[in-house]
Amino acid sequence: MKKIVISTGGGDAPGLNAVIYAVVMASHARGWEVYGSRTGYLGLLNLDELIRLTPEMVADITSTGGTIIGSTNKGNPFAMPIENLAGEVEVHDVSDRVMENFKRMGFDCHIAIGGDGSLEIAHKFAQEKGMNVIGVPKTIDNDLEATQSTFGFDTAVSTATEALDKLHSTAKSHDRVMVVEVMGRDSGWIAINSGISGGADIILIPEIPFEISEICKKLNENELHNKDYAIVVVAEGASAKNHEVIDQGEGPIGRAEKLLGGVGTWVAKEINKRTGKDTRALVLGHLQRGGSPTTCDRLLALHFGTTAVRLVEHEKYDHMVALDGDDMIAVPLADAISQRKKVPRNGDRVRTALEIGICMGVDKQELPFED
Ligand code: F6P
Repeated sequence: MKKIVISTGGGDAPGLNAVIYAVVMASHARGWEVYGSRTGYLGLLNLDELIRLTPEMVADITSTGGTIIGSTNKGNPFAMPIENLAGEVEVHDVSDRVMENFKRMGFDCHIAIGGDGSLEIAHKFAQEKGMNVIGVPKTIDNDLEATQSTFGFDTAVSTATEALDKLHSTAKSHDRVMVVEVMGRDSGWIAINSGISGGADIILIPEIPFEISEICKKLNENELHNKDYAIVVVAEGASAKNHEVIDQGEGPIGRAEKLLGGVGTWVAKEINKRTGKDTRALVLGHLQRGGSPTTCDRLLALHFGTTAVRLVEHEKYDHMVALDGDDMIAVPLADAISQRKKVPRNGDRVRTALEIGICMGVDKQELPFED
């Protein structure tokens, strides 16, 4: 009999509940018990926040968005923001308490579902505290090099594509340039996939710093072909050549990364200033993280969940499950967190975009391809 605790950390992503379902069902079939730690590590800090997950509790959750056990991106037990009696927020290392509770509950393994930040914390628990951990990669950004794909990404791209489809008619009716900012942090996967699928004229990604003059050139070319409207997709982490990435500052204490956002509005203003065209900016934001997971994401999440349970069975700890072609594999967590997956400047995705007439924000000559 094994006893597993599962947590979901970082930003939510469609498919989290499907992983939870798969872990609970595959464990139940083996006669094991599964507990959920609410709000990241909170359940391991305060045992009142720990819940027993039974097959009855997870019935029907596979198709739902979000996570039934909650999540946080300010919950690193090695640097936890805690309010003192005076109402001030102080950062404390509470990792020992987490480990004591893990042992007190008699857990054999912690399945940590999360992005790079959460997986890094899980790896630290494995290395420094001796916790048995298995990682399950989650992020709508699809920016983990060690896995071909992460669940949540396909849903986010579908949501963004649907939004672009809808914007065509209003942009066309008003002869407007619609600039749509999408998520993805430092990787342009959501932007390029939704932009190509949703018929964008221009796609701006972090991997290719752009020039406003090239964007305006493309808009002028459109006009020569009697196309007076345009759709520009810009990734939140994209920046103009020789400009810093635009962000919203540090965010609350305990959050590891800056909040991005604002580049869409900046691009829209620059286009208007230089071309006089009627321009609007739209931030898709958290819409991309919401809703029911697509079939593709559900399947991936269910595969990840059952594979994680198999890794527990084989006691292959400090590893992350990953997709490799059609296969599920185990990658050491140390390797999994070491590299971010970027859109290759000279890869097929960029090439396809250029060949169907999409401007990538720079002169084509800057993006040479080998035959
Ligand atoms: O990593 C997922 C993600 O949605 C990013 O694409 C985005 O930059 C960030 O999280 C937003 O974080 P928050 O939910 O804290 O606003």
